Amino acid sequence: MTFQEAYQKLESYGQLHVLKYYGELTEEERAQLLQQVEETDFSILQYIEHRTSASGTGRISPIRVMELDEMEKRREEFTRIGLDAVRKGRVAAVLLAGGMGTRLGSDDPKCMYDIGITHPVFIMERLVANLMEVVDAAGVFVPFFIMTSDKNHEKTVAFMKEKNYFGYDPSMVWFFKQEMAPAADYSGRVYMEAKNRISTSPNGNGGWFLSMKRAGLIDKVHELGIEWLNTFAVDNVLQRIADPLFVGATIASGCACGAKTVRKAAPDEKVGVICLEDGRPYVVEYYELTPELMETKNENGDPAYNFGVIMNYLFREKDLERIVDEVLPVHIVEKKIAYIDEQGEPVSPPEPNGYKFEQLVLDMVRELDSCQPVEVVRSREFAPIKNKTGIDSVESARLLCAQNGIVL
Ligand code: UD1
Repeated sequence: MTFQEAYQKLESYGQLHVLKYYGELTEEERAQLLQQVEETDFSILQYIEHRTSASGTGRISPIRVMELDEMEKRREEFTRIGLDAVRKGRVAAVLLAGGMGTRLGSDDPKCMYDIGITHPVFIMERLVANLMEVVDAAGVFVPFFIMTSDKNHEKTVAFMKEKNYFGYDPSMVWFFKQEMAPAADYSGRVYMEAKNRISTSPNGNGGWFLSMKRAGLIDKVHELGIEWLNTFAVDNVLQRIADPLFVGATIASGCACGAKTVRKAAPDEKVGVICLEDGRPYVVEYYELTPELMETKNENGDPAYNFGVIMNYLFREKDLERIVDEVLPVHIVEKKIAYIDEQGEPVSPPEPNGYKFEQLVLDMVRELDSCQPVEVVRSREFAPIKNKTGIDSVESARLLCAQNGIVL
Protein backbone atom coordinates (compact mmCIF):
# COMPACT_ATOMS: atom_id res chain seq x y z
CA MET A 1 0.00 0.00 0.00
CA THR A 2 1.36 3.43 -0.88
CA PHE A 3 1.39 6.39 1.53
CA GLN A 4 -1.42 7.99 -0.48
CA GLU A 5 -3.60 4.89 -0.23
CA ALA A 6 -2.93 4.57 3.49
CA TYR A 7 -3.81 8.24 3.96
CA GLN A 8 -7.12 7.78 2.19
CA LYS A 9 -8.02 4.66 4.12
CA LEU A 10 -7.20 6.25 7.47
CA GLU A 11 -8.99 9.46 6.59
CA SER A 12 -12.18 7.57 5.79
CA TYR A 13 -12.12 6.03 9.27
CA GLY A 14 -11.05 9.22 11.07
CA GLN A 15 -7.70 7.70 12.09
CA LEU A 16 -5.15 10.02 10.46
CA HIS A 17 -3.20 10.33 13.73
CA VAL A 18 -1.69 6.92 12.85
CA LEU A 19 0.59 8.78 10.42
CA LYS A 20 1.65 11.42 12.96
CA TYR A 21 5.25 10.16 13.19
CA TYR A 22 5.60 9.04 9.56
CA GLY A 23 8.15 11.75 8.80
CA GLU A 24 10.44 10.52 11.60
CA LEU A 25 10.46 6.86 10.54
CA THR A 26 13.14 4.95 8.63
CA GLU A 27 12.25 3.42 5.26
CA GLU A 28 11.79 0.02 6.87
CA GLU A 29 9.56 1.38 9.64
CA ARG A 30 7.46 3.24 7.09
CA ALA A 31 6.95 0.05 5.11
CA GLN A 32 5.92 -1.78 8.32
CA LEU A 33 3.35 0.85 9.19
CA LEU A 34 1.88 0.98 5.67
CA GLN A 35 1.58 -2.78 5.65
CA GLN A 36 -0.20 -2.74 9.01
CA VAL A 37 -2.62 -0.08 7.79
CA GLU A 38 -3.34 -2.24 4.76
CA GLU A 39 -4.00 -5.35 6.87
CA THR A 40 -6.04 -3.76 9.66
CA ASP A 41 -9.81 -3.92 9.59
CA PHE A 42 -10.83 -0.50 10.93
CA SER A 43 -14.51 -1.11 10.19
CA ILE A 44 -14.67 -3.06 13.44
CA LEU A 45 -14.46 0.25 15.34
CA GLN A 46 -18.00 1.10 14.30
CA TYR A 47 -19.25 -1.50 16.82
CA ILE A 48 -18.42 0.86 19.68
CA GLU A 49 -21.38 3.01 18.65
CA HIS A 50 -23.75 0.05 18.61
CA ARG A 51 -22.36 -1.29 21.84
CA THR A 52 -24.93 -3.66 23.30
CA SER A 53 -24.57 -7.01 24.96
CA ALA A 54 -24.05 -9.56 22.18
CA SER A 55 -26.17 -12.08 24.06
CA GLY A 56 -29.16 -12.02 26.33
CA THR A 57 -31.33 -10.61 23.60
CA GLY A 58 -33.22 -13.85 23.04
CA ARG A 59 -35.19 -16.15 25.33
CA ILE A 60 -32.90 -18.37 27.38
CA SER A 61 -34.00 -21.91 28.29
CA PRO A 62 -32.18 -25.02 29.52
CA ILE A 63 -30.56 -27.48 27.10
CA ARG A 64 -30.48 -31.24 27.65
CA VAL A 65 -27.01 -32.32 28.73
CA MET A 66 -25.94 -35.94 28.46
CA GLU A 67 -25.03 -36.45 32.08
CA LEU A 68 -22.44 -38.75 33.63
CA ASP A 69 -24.76 -41.71 34.34
CA GLU A 70 -25.95 -41.79 30.74
CA MET A 71 -22.40 -41.42 29.43
CA GLU A 72 -21.36 -44.30 31.68
CA LYS A 73 -24.18 -46.55 30.42
CA ARG A 74 -23.19 -45.96 26.81
CA ARG A 75 -19.42 -45.77 27.39
CA GLU A 76 -18.58 -48.87 25.36
CA GLU A 77 -20.74 -47.90 22.38
CA PHE A 78 -19.46 -44.28 22.26
CA THR A 79 -15.83 -45.27 22.77
CA ARG A 80 -16.05 -47.77 19.91
CA ILE A 81 -17.53 -45.16 17.55
CA GLY A 82 -15.01 -42.50 18.62
CA LEU A 83 -11.95 -44.73 18.44
CA ASP A 84 -12.98 -45.93 15.02
CA ALA A 85 -13.22 -42.30 13.78
CA VAL A 86 -9.80 -41.44 15.26
CA ARG A 87 -8.23 -44.58 13.74
CA LYS A 88 -9.59 -43.69 10.33
CA GLY A 89 -7.99 -40.22 10.63
CA ARG A 90 -11.35 -38.43 10.69
CA VAL A 91 -10.65 -36.43 13.86
CA ALA A 92 -8.13 -33.59 14.22
CA ALA A 93 -7.11 -31.54 17.23
CA VAL A 94 -7.08 -27.73 17.07
CA LEU A 95 -5.36 -25.92 19.91
CA LEU A 96 -6.52 -22.33 20.36
CA ALA A 97 -3.39 -20.69 21.70
CA GLY A 98 -3.54 -17.20 20.26
CA GLY A 99 -4.56 -15.54 23.54
CA MET A 100 -2.18 -13.35 25.51
CA GLY A 101 -2.22 -15.06 28.92
CA THR A 102 -1.35 -11.81 30.66
CA ARG A 103 -3.01 -12.90 33.93
CA LEU A 104 -0.09 -15.27 34.57
CA GLY A 105 2.31 -12.35 34.52
CA SER A 106 4.55 -13.85 31.85
CA ASP A 107 5.39 -12.41 28.44
CA ASP A 108 5.89 -15.86 26.99
CA PRO A 109 3.08 -17.79 25.30
CA LYS A 110 0.92 -19.60 27.86
CA CYS A 111 1.87 -23.01 26.46
CA MET A 112 5.48 -22.37 27.58
CA TYR A 113 4.51 -21.87 31.20
CA ASP A 114 6.31 -24.28 33.52
CA ILE A 115 4.03 -25.81 36.17
CA GLY A 116 6.60 -28.35 37.37
CA ILE A 117 7.57 -28.80 41.01
CA THR A 118 10.48 -31.24 40.98
CA HIS A 119 11.28 -30.88 37.28
CA PRO A 120 10.11 -28.64 34.43
CA VAL A 121 6.65 -29.55 33.10
CA PHE A 122 5.34 -27.15 30.49
CA ILE A 123 1.66 -26.64 29.77
CA MET A 124 2.22 -27.72 26.16
CA GLU A 125 4.01 -30.84 27.37
CA ARG A 126 0.94 -31.83 29.40
CA LEU A 127 -1.37 -31.26 26.44
CA VAL A 128 0.78 -33.37 24.13
CA ALA A 129 0.99 -36.12 26.78
CA ASN A 130 -2.82 -36.15 27.01
CA LEU A 131 -3.16 -36.38 23.24
CA MET A 132 -0.57 -39.17 23.12
CA GLU A 133 -2.86 -41.36 25.22
CA VAL A 134 -5.37 -41.37 22.36
CA VAL A 135 -2.61 -41.77 19.76
CA ASP A 136 -1.40 -44.86 21.62
CA ALA A 137 -4.90 -46.29 21.94
CA ALA A 138 -5.73 -45.68 18.28
CA GLY A 139 -2.32 -46.53 16.85
CA VAL A 140 -2.28 -43.39 14.64
CA PHE A 141 -1.15 -39.80 15.13
CA VAL A 142 -4.01 -37.33 15.31
CA PRO A 143 -3.48 -34.32 12.99
CA PHE A 144 -2.66 -31.44 15.31
CA PHE A 145 -3.30 -27.81 14.31
CA ILE A 146 -2.06 -25.00 16.54
CA MET A 147 -3.46 -21.49 16.35
CA THR A 148 -1.13 -18.71 17.44
CA SER A 149 -1.22 -14.95 16.91
CA ASP A 150 1.23 -12.25 15.84
CA LYS A 151 2.05 -11.78 19.52
CA ASN A 152 3.27 -15.32 20.17
CA HIS A 153 3.76 -17.19 16.87
CA GLU A 154 7.55 -17.20 16.58
CA LYS A 155 8.09 -18.13 20.22
CA THR A 156 5.52 -20.95 20.11
CA VAL A 157 6.96 -22.49 16.95
CA ALA A 158 10.55 -22.18 18.19
CA PHE A 159 9.58 -23.73 21.55
CA MET A 160 7.95 -26.76 19.92
CA LYS A 161 11.01 -27.29 17.71
CA GLU A 162 13.41 -26.89 20.62
CA LYS A 163 11.46 -29.48 22.62
CA ASN A 164 11.19 -31.87 19.67
CA TYR A 165 7.43 -31.49 19.73
CA PHE A 166 7.45 -33.33 23.07
CA GLY A 167 7.63 -36.60 21.14
CA TYR A 168 4.78 -35.81 18.73
CA ASP A 169 5.23 -36.52 15.01
CA PRO A 170 6.26 -33.11 13.53
CA SER A 171 4.81 -34.05 10.15
CA MET A 172 1.38 -34.14 11.83
CA VAL A 173 1.64 -30.64 13.33
CA TRP A 174 0.61 -27.42 11.53
CA PHE A 175 0.70 -23.88 12.89
CA PHE A 176 -1.49 -21.03 11.73
CA LYS A 177 -1.95 -17.47 12.89
CA GLN A 178 -5.23 -15.86 13.87
CA GLU A 179 -6.10 -12.32 12.81
CA MET A 180 -5.47 -9.23 14.89
CA ALA A 181 -7.90 -6.42 15.63
CA PRO A 182 -7.00 -2.81 16.43
CA ALA A 183 -7.43 -1.63 20.01
CA ALA A 184 -8.98 1.78 20.59
CA ASP A 185 -9.77 4.32 23.29
CA TYR A 186 -13.37 4.80 24.41
CA SER A 187 -14.08 7.15 21.53
CA GLY A 188 -12.89 4.68 18.90
CA ARG A 189 -9.51 6.32 18.18
CA VAL A 190 -6.94 3.54 17.73
CA TYR A 191 -3.96 3.53 20.06
CA MET A 192 -0.39 3.54 18.75
CA GLU A 193 1.89 0.97 20.38
CA ALA A 194 4.99 2.54 18.80
CA LYS A 195 5.58 5.29 16.28
CA ASN A 196 5.39 2.75 13.46
CA ARG A 197 2.82 0.36 14.97
CA ILE A 198 -0.90 0.47 15.80
CA SER A 199 -1.88 -1.28 19.07
CA THR A 200 -3.51 -4.55 18.12
CA SER A 201 -4.65 -7.67 19.94
CA PRO A 202 -5.78 -11.15 18.89
CA ASN A 203 -9.36 -10.94 17.59
CA GLY A 204 -10.82 -13.56 19.93
CA ASN A 205 -11.11 -17.32 19.58
CA GLY A 206 -14.15 -17.29 17.28
CA GLY A 207 -12.23 -16.68 14.07
CA TRP A 208 -10.19 -19.88 14.21
CA PHE A 209 -11.89 -21.67 11.32
CA LEU A 210 -11.66 -18.66 9.03
CA SER A 211 -7.99 -18.19 9.96
CA MET A 212 -7.34 -21.88 9.25
CA LYS A 213 -9.02 -21.46 5.89
CA ARG A 214 -7.01 -18.35 5.05
CA ALA A 215 -3.84 -20.25 5.93
CA GLY A 216 -4.76 -22.92 3.37
CA LEU A 217 -5.19 -25.57 6.06
CA ILE A 218 -8.77 -26.45 5.21
CA ASP A 219 -7.34 -27.88 1.99
CA LYS A 220 -5.11 -30.02 4.20
CA VAL A 221 -8.18 -31.06 6.21
CA HIS A 222 -9.88 -32.22 2.99
CA GLU A 223 -6.74 -33.91 1.70
CA LEU A 224 -6.45 -35.91 4.91
CA GLY A 225 -10.15 -36.79 5.00
CA ILE A 226 -10.74 -35.11 8.37
CA GLU A 227 -14.42 -34.76 9.28
CA TRP A 228 -14.32 -33.54 12.89
CA LEU A 229 -12.29 -30.75 14.48
CA ASN A 230 -11.74 -30.81 18.23
CA THR A 231 -10.94 -27.28 19.38
CA PHE A 232 -9.65 -26.79 22.88
CA ALA A 233 -8.14 -24.16 25.15
CA VAL A 234 -4.46 -24.01 25.98
CA ASP A 235 -4.92 -23.48 29.70
CA ASN A 236 -6.50 -26.74 30.88
CA VAL A 237 -3.71 -29.20 31.69
CA LEU A 238 -6.14 -32.09 32.18
CA GLN A 239 -7.77 -31.49 28.81
CA ARG A 240 -8.69 -34.79 27.11
CA ILE A 241 -8.11 -34.24 23.40
CA ALA A 242 -9.74 -36.23 20.58
CA ASP A 243 -11.29 -38.19 23.44
CA PRO A 244 -12.98 -41.25 21.87
CA LEU A 245 -15.86 -41.21 24.38
CA PHE A 246 -16.70 -37.58 23.57
CA VAL A 247 -16.15 -38.04 19.83
CA GLY A 248 -18.44 -41.09 19.85
CA ALA A 249 -21.15 -39.35 21.88
CA THR A 250 -21.16 -36.36 19.51
CA ILE A 251 -21.22 -38.49 16.36
CA ALA A 252 -24.02 -40.68 17.79
CA SER A 253 -26.07 -37.58 18.65
CA GLY A 254 -26.24 -36.51 15.00
CA CYS A 255 -25.50 -32.91 16.07
CA ALA A 256 -23.16 -30.54 14.22
CA CYS A 257 -21.08 -30.09 17.35
CA GLY A 258 -20.48 -31.38 20.84
CA ALA A 259 -19.39 -29.48 23.94
CA LYS A 260 -17.71 -30.84 27.03
CA THR A 261 -19.23 -29.46 30.19
CA VAL A 262 -18.78 -29.76 33.93
CA ARG A 263 -21.23 -29.29 36.75
CA LYS A 264 -20.46 -25.82 38.09
CA ALA A 265 -18.50 -25.64 41.34
CA ALA A 266 -20.27 -22.44 42.40
CA PRO A 267 -23.12 -20.40 40.90
CA ASP A 268 -20.68 -17.61 40.00
CA GLU A 269 -17.89 -19.82 38.68
CA LYS A 270 -16.08 -18.22 35.74
CA VAL A 271 -17.29 -20.58 33.04
CA GLY A 272 -19.71 -20.07 30.18
CA VAL A 273 -23.07 -21.74 30.80
CA ILE A 274 -24.56 -23.90 28.07
CA CYS A 275 -28.22 -23.30 27.30
CA LEU A 276 -30.61 -22.52 24.46
CA GLU A 277 -31.26 -19.02 23.19
CA ASP A 278 -34.48 -18.85 21.18
CA GLY A 279 -34.20 -22.61 20.80
CA ARG A 280 -30.64 -22.57 19.47
CA PRO A 281 -27.64 -23.84 21.43
CA TYR A 282 -25.76 -21.02 23.08
CA VAL A 283 -23.24 -20.30 25.80
CA VAL A 284 -23.87 -17.39 28.16
CA GLU A 285 -20.48 -16.17 29.29
CA TYR A 286 -19.98 -15.78 33.04
CA TYR A 287 -19.79 -12.01 32.83
CA GLU A 288 -23.18 -11.94 31.09
CA LEU A 289 -25.00 -14.39 33.37
CA THR A 290 -27.74 -12.59 35.29
CA PRO A 291 -28.47 -13.37 38.98
CA GLU A 292 -31.91 -14.50 37.85
CA LEU A 293 -30.48 -17.16 35.51
CA MET A 294 -27.99 -18.17 38.19
CA GLU A 295 -30.83 -18.91 40.59
CA THR A 296 -33.38 -20.51 38.23
CA LYS A 297 -34.24 -24.11 39.23
CA ASN A 298 -35.49 -26.95 37.03
CA GLU A 299 -38.40 -29.31 37.83
CA ASN A 300 -36.14 -31.40 40.12
CA GLY A 301 -35.20 -28.36 42.14
CA ASP A 302 -31.64 -28.35 40.78
CA PRO A 303 -30.08 -25.24 39.22
CA ALA A 304 -31.35 -25.08 35.62
CA TYR A 305 -28.15 -23.53 34.26
CA ASN A 306 -25.57 -25.62 36.01
CA PHE A 307 -23.33 -26.90 33.24
CA GLY A 308 -20.28 -24.86 32.33
CA VAL A 309 -18.33 -25.38 29.12
CA ILE A 310 -14.66 -26.20 29.50
CA MET A 311 -13.72 -24.84 26.05
CA ASN A 312 -13.47 -28.26 24.44
CA TYR A 313 -15.75 -28.52 21.42
CA LEU A 314 -16.04 -31.01 18.59
CA PHE A 315 -17.20 -29.48 15.31
CA ARG A 316 -18.32 -31.27 12.15
CA GLU A 317 -16.12 -29.68 9.51
CA LYS A 318 -18.66 -29.57 6.70
CA ASP A 319 -21.06 -27.61 8.91
CA LEU A 320 -18.35 -25.07 9.66
CA GLU A 321 -17.96 -24.50 5.93
CA ARG A 322 -21.66 -23.74 5.79
CA ILE A 323 -21.31 -20.92 8.33
CA VAL A 324 -17.81 -19.68 7.58
CA ASP A 325 -19.09 -16.63 5.71
CA GLU A 326 -21.60 -15.68 8.40
CA VAL A 327 -20.47 -12.58 10.24
CA LEU A 328 -20.15 -13.43 13.92
CA PRO A 329 -21.09 -10.80 16.52
CA VAL A 330 -18.21 -8.70 17.78
CA HIS A 331 -17.84 -8.63 21.56
CA ILE A 332 -16.34 -5.39 22.84
CA VAL A 333 -14.19 -5.96 25.90
CA GLU A 334 -12.74 -3.29 28.16
CA LYS A 335 -9.01 -3.92 28.60
CA LYS A 336 -5.68 -2.33 29.50
CA ILE A 337 -4.00 -1.29 26.27
CA ALA A 338 -0.34 -0.30 26.11
CA TYR A 339 0.30 2.81 24.01
CA ILE A 340 2.66 5.74 23.39
CA ASP A 341 1.75 9.14 24.77
CA GLU A 342 1.91 12.54 23.04
CA GLN A 343 5.68 12.62 23.58
CA GLY A 344 6.06 9.19 22.03
CA GLU A 345 6.86 7.54 25.39
CA PRO A 346 5.47 4.02 26.07
CA VAL A 347 2.72 3.77 28.70
CA SER A 348 1.39 0.60 30.40
CA PRO A 349 -1.88 1.71 31.99
CA PRO A 350 -2.73 0.26 35.43
CA GLU A 351 -6.47 0.39 34.68
CA PRO A 352 -8.50 -0.40 31.56
CA ASN A 353 -8.25 2.46 29.09
CA GLY A 354 -10.14 1.27 26.04
CA TYR A 355 -11.66 -1.51 24.01
CA LYS A 356 -10.48 -4.67 22.31
CA PHE A 357 -12.70 -6.45 19.81
CA GLU A 358 -13.27 -10.19 19.93
CA GLN A 359 -15.28 -12.82 18.14
CA LEU A 360 -16.01 -15.83 20.30
CA VAL A 361 -16.23 -19.53 19.64
CA LEU A 362 -19.58 -19.68 21.44
CA ASP A 363 -21.18 -17.70 18.62
CA MET A 364 -20.14 -20.46 16.22
CA VAL A 365 -22.07 -22.91 18.40
CA ARG A 366 -25.19 -20.78 18.02
CA GLU A 367 -24.76 -20.49 14.25
CA LEU A 368 -24.56 -24.26 13.92
CA ASP A 369 -28.09 -24.84 15.27
CA SER A 370 -27.41 -28.19 16.95
CA CYS A 371 -25.07 -29.06 19.79
CA GLN A 372 -24.80 -32.06 22.12
CA PRO A 373 -23.40 -31.05 25.50
CA VAL A 374 -21.91 -33.90 27.51
CA GLU A 375 -20.89 -33.91 31.13
CA VAL A 376 -17.36 -34.92 32.10
CA VAL A 377 -15.86 -35.63 35.52
CA ARG A 378 -14.42 -32.28 36.49
CA SER A 379 -11.68 -33.58 38.80
CA ARG A 380 -10.36 -35.67 35.89
CA GLU A 381 -10.74 -33.24 33.03
CA PHE A 382 -10.77 -29.66 34.22
CA ALA A 383 -7.71 -27.97 35.64
CA PRO A 384 -7.66 -24.51 34.03
CA ILE A 385 -4.74 -22.21 34.70
CA LYS A 386 -5.86 -18.60 34.55
CA ASN A 387 -4.04 -17.13 37.56
CA LYS A 388 -0.88 -17.76 39.55
CA THR A 389 -2.61 -18.54 42.81
CA GLY A 390 -6.13 -19.18 44.13
CA ILE A 391 -9.04 -20.35 41.98
CA ASP A 392 -8.16 -21.72 38.52
CA SER A 393 -4.48 -21.27 39.14
CA VAL A 394 -1.12 -22.97 38.86
CA GLU A 395 -1.64 -24.07 42.49
CA SER A 396 -5.08 -25.61 41.95
CA ALA A 397 -3.95 -27.29 38.72
CA ARG A 398 -0.96 -28.83 40.51
CA LEU A 399 -3.27 -30.37 43.13
CA LEU A 400 -5.56 -31.76 40.44
CA CYS A 401 -2.58 -33.20 38.54
CA ALA A 402 -1.44 -34.94 41.76
CA GLN A 403 -4.95 -36.40 42.25
CA ASN A 404 -4.69 -37.83 38.76
CA GLY A 405 -1.31 -39.42 39.41
CA ILE A 406 0.64 -36.92 37.31
CA VAL A 407 4.06 -36.30 38.83
CA LEU A 408 5.17 -32.69 38.47
C1 UD1 B 1 -13.06 -19.54 28.31
C2 UD1 B 1 -14.41 -19.67 27.62
C3 UD1 B 1 -15.47 -20.01 28.64
C4 UD1 B 1 -15.09 -21.29 29.38
C5 UD1 B 1 -13.72 -21.11 30.03
C6 UD1 B 1 -13.26 -22.44 30.63
C7 UD1 B 1 -14.46 -18.22 25.67
C8 UD1 B 1 -14.88 -16.91 25.13
N1 UD1 B 1 -14.72 -18.42 26.96
O1 UD1 B 1 -13.12 -18.41 29.18
O2 UD1 B 1 -16.72 -20.21 27.98
O3 UD1 B 1 -16.06 -21.63 30.34
O4 UD1 B 1 -12.75 -20.72 29.03
O5 UD1 B 1 -12.02 -22.29 31.24
O6 UD1 B 1 -13.96 -19.05 24.96
N2 UD1 B 1 -7.81 -17.48 22.66
C9 UD1 B 1 -7.25 -17.38 21.42
N3 UD1 B 1 -7.31 -16.17 20.80
C10 UD1 B 1 -7.90 -15.08 21.33
C11 UD1 B 1 -8.47 -15.18 22.62
C12 UD1 B 1 -8.42 -16.40 23.26
O7 UD1 B 1 -6.69 -18.36 20.89
O8 UD1 B 1 -7.91 -14.03 20.68
C13 UD1 B 1 -7.75 -18.78 23.35
C14 UD1 B 1 -6.90 -18.71 24.61
O9 UD1 B 1 -5.53 -18.85 24.28
C15 UD1 B 1 -7.46 -19.85 25.41
C16 UD1 B 1 -8.95 -19.87 25.00
O10 UD1 B 1 -9.04 -19.18 23.78
O11 UD1 B 1 -6.89 -21.08 25.00
C17 UD1 B 1 -9.87 -19.28 26.07
O12 UD1 B 1 -9.65 -17.91 26.16
P1 UD1 B 1 -9.71 -17.07 27.51
O13 UD1 B 1 -9.66 -15.65 27.16
O14 UD1 B 1 -8.73 -17.61 28.47
O15 UD1 B 1 -11.22 -17.37 27.99
P2 UD1 B 1 -11.84 -17.46 29.46
O16 UD1 B 1 -12.37 -16.13 29.83
O17 UD1 B 1 -10.95 -18.11 30.41
